[in-house]
Amino acid sequence: MKIILAPMEGLTDVYMRDVLTRIAGQNSFDWCVTEFIRVTNHLLPAHTFYQYCPELLNNGRTLAGTPVHIQLLGSEPLLLAENAARAADLGAVAIDLNFGCPAKTVNSHRGGAILLEEPETVHAIIAEVRKAVPRDIPVSAKMRLGVNDHSRMLDNAHAVESAGANWLTVHARTKADGYRPPAHWHVLSQIRQHIKIPIFANGDICNLNDAAKCRLDSQCDDLMIGRGAVIRPDFIRQLRGESIELTWAELLKWQLVFLDGMRGIEDNPYHIDGKSVLKWSEQGVVGRYKQWLAMLTQGWPEAKLLFEQIKKERQCEEIRRIITEQ
Ligand SMILES: Cc1cc2nc3c(=O)[nH]c(=O)nc-3n(C[C@H](O)[C@H](O)[C@H](O)COP(=O)(O)O)c2cc1C
Repeated sequence: MKIILAPMEGLTDVYMRDVLTRIAGQNSFDWCVTEFIRVTNHLLPAHTFYQYCPELLNNGRTLAGTPVHIQLLGSEPLLLAENAARAADLGAVAIDLNFGCPAKTVNSHRGGAILLEEPETVHAIIAEVRKAVPRDIPVSAKMRLGVNDHSRMLDNAHAVESAGANWLTVHARTKADGYRPPAHWHVLSQIRQHIKIPIFANGDICNLNDAAKCRLDSQCDDLMIGRGAVIRPDFIRQLRGESIELTWAELLKWQLVFLDGMRGIEDNPYHIDGKSVLKWSEQGVVGRYKQWLAMLTQGWPEAKLLFEQIKKERQCEEIRRIITEQ
């Protein structure tokens, strides 16, 4: 079974990828995918790729050694191909193409899930990107079941396969479903019957029972996991058969690693000519930490108490002090 950490804009950035892959251990996630990089009308400069994927400066791997794939989102095949080629030149280990984003602003510019109305465009994008990057760099696609229904689902899956993608990830909802439960894992079994490339099942896999049921219903062996991994960072270890749960004390230490990583206190290789490619304001760091802690409250009762204590704090140092005093 392959397990992938899902791309989540504003959530699974370099620091979250770092801490989650370190908690999971080197071989637990097979790879991560960056948040989408939007390609609108020009070739993006190198620094944009470094911002979204600083791991390019670490052989395309997180500090724990987990590969990081770059996700592009757009609608112009040749422009996406040009940007994919640049990402490959900069050291991207694989390119993923986004056909799943339901956001209005993105969809109104013909990006993300709305392209599932146009399987021929999906095909053209993947085919051009495939041509533009070296053969040894995998190209993959991530899609939803459709825009409003499943009527073009198989057309899209065939488009992905016939254009030469190495695998396909499917978030088991339509764009219209948004993030509303349930995820329709059983629908993926229809795609499974029709195409041969690996399919990664995705959506609402939050514990061992979900993972087993999803694999059974979808008939897909491989999984992509997003929010479940952020809420219970030890879930992936459990999926790999490790029975020992992370203790709250251990998780507190990881929260400090996350906080210090964002503050640039921990050593990292994300520098060019001595300058960091990443910059976070105090406010940004505090916001990101609170966001994770709020999600942890869904998996850890202790997180609720801590959240109450820090929710009004504005300074990293003060938050750090409160964490170390737990
Ligand atoms: C906050 C957030 C941001 C997301 N950003 C992206 C993104 O940049 N690219 C993408 O392909 N999917 C994105 N997704 C979708 C996730 O990758 C995933 O398909 C979805 O969350 C369902 O999986 P989960 O239930 O395991 O979280 C995002 C989801 C969330 C909740």
